[in-house]
Formats: sequence, structure tokens, C-alpha cells
Amino acid sequence: MDIEKKVWEVLLSEEEISETLKRLGKQISKDYETKKLLVVSLLKGSFIFTADIVRRLSIPVRIEFMTTSSYGDSEETSGRVKIVTDINKDLTGYDVLIVDDITDSGITMKFVMDHLRKKNPKSVKSCVLLDKPDRRKVVLKPDYLGVTIPDKFVVGYGLNYGEYYRNIPYVFVVTSKDR
Ligand code: IMP
Ligand code: MG
Repeated sequence: MDIEKKVWEVLLSEEEISETLKRLGKQISKDYETKKLLVVSLLKGSFIFTADIVRRLSIPVRIEFMTTSSYGDSEETSGRVKIVTDINKDLTGYDVLIVDDITDSGITMKFVMDHLRKKNPKSVKSCVLLDKPDRRKVVLKPDYLGVTIPDKFVVGYGLNYGEYYRNIPYVFVVTSKDR
């Protein structure tokens, strides 16, 4: 992928991300106040979002990580989700909140929700920073959603472009100069 031939456009600034984190953090803290919250973060894409959102919670939380893959280096999902690293934990009694960077086809989130339900938790919900509903291939509506975005490939704030740019502190769109 040749980044020099592309145009970068900011889609979600650091300020907008911060506002979104504040709103979601409040909402989750309120909804899970009397529950036993366990956040399951989907690596690698959600590492920054997870780190930021859990610091906005005013309630106790346990945090686990799972690694899934379906994309490889391409911009399109293969449609098959692989669990690279599972969580080794009995989820009985826990209210699980799966945190991911983005839902695109929805295949990853649906797969992980179904997978974790088999571990006997009390509830399983989803929280994503970004949602591209136009690209949905399965029925899935995030329970906690940051921002709905158009059908564009986005990068930064954990999201990668050929495994780079995860560290950029805002979300941007990459388009070809000749498009
Ligand atoms: P889904 O299974 O198609 O919903 O895709 C979910 C995963 O694909 C996300 O967790 C991201 O890691 C990755 N992904 C989807 N859209 C984008 C994008 O626009 N930029 C970077 N990664 C993306
Ligand atoms: Mg991901």
C-alpha cells in the first residue's frame, strides 16, 4: 500500500474522541453500577479505545483480552473469524462487555458474542467506537456506540493500515489522490 499517493482526511479529532469517551464512560458506569462488569477487549484494533474507555469508568471492572483475526493485511474481511488468543476464564456471573474499535460487516462482533455466550456469562453486550452500518453482512446493532461513519476505510486510534498508523491519536480516512 502506497501511502504517498493517498489523501488523509481527519474524520474524528482528538476532541471528538474525548467527548465520545466521556459520554460512553458515563453511560456504561450507570448501566453496570449494580453488575459485575468484565470488559473483553478485541486486539489488536481496540487497544487504545479500551485503555481510554476503562479509565472513564467510575465502577469496578475486570479486563480481559482476546485476539481475533479475519482481515490479514487486506481492507476486506475474509468473512471467517479466527480466534488467535482466547480468554481462559469461566464467565459465570459476569456481565461481559466486548470492546472493539469498529464494526464493519459485523461478523467479528457477532462471532465473539456467540463464542463468549458459551462460557455462561450473565449477559453479553458490545461497545464500539465506530460503526459502518452500510457494510453489514449479519444482523448486529452495537449496544454502546461512539460514532456512525460512512463506508470508508479509516485509520488511526488503534486502527491499522498495513499494520501501521495505529498510534495516530485521531481517526482519519485514506483516499486515493486520483479518486
Ligand atoms: P467486521 O468483522 O467486518 O465487522 O470487521 C471488524 C474488524 O475489521 C474490526 O475490528 C477492525 O479491526 C477491522 N476493520 C474494519 N473496518 C476497518 C477500517 O475501516 N479500518 C481499519 N480496520 C477496519
Ligand atoms: Mg479488529
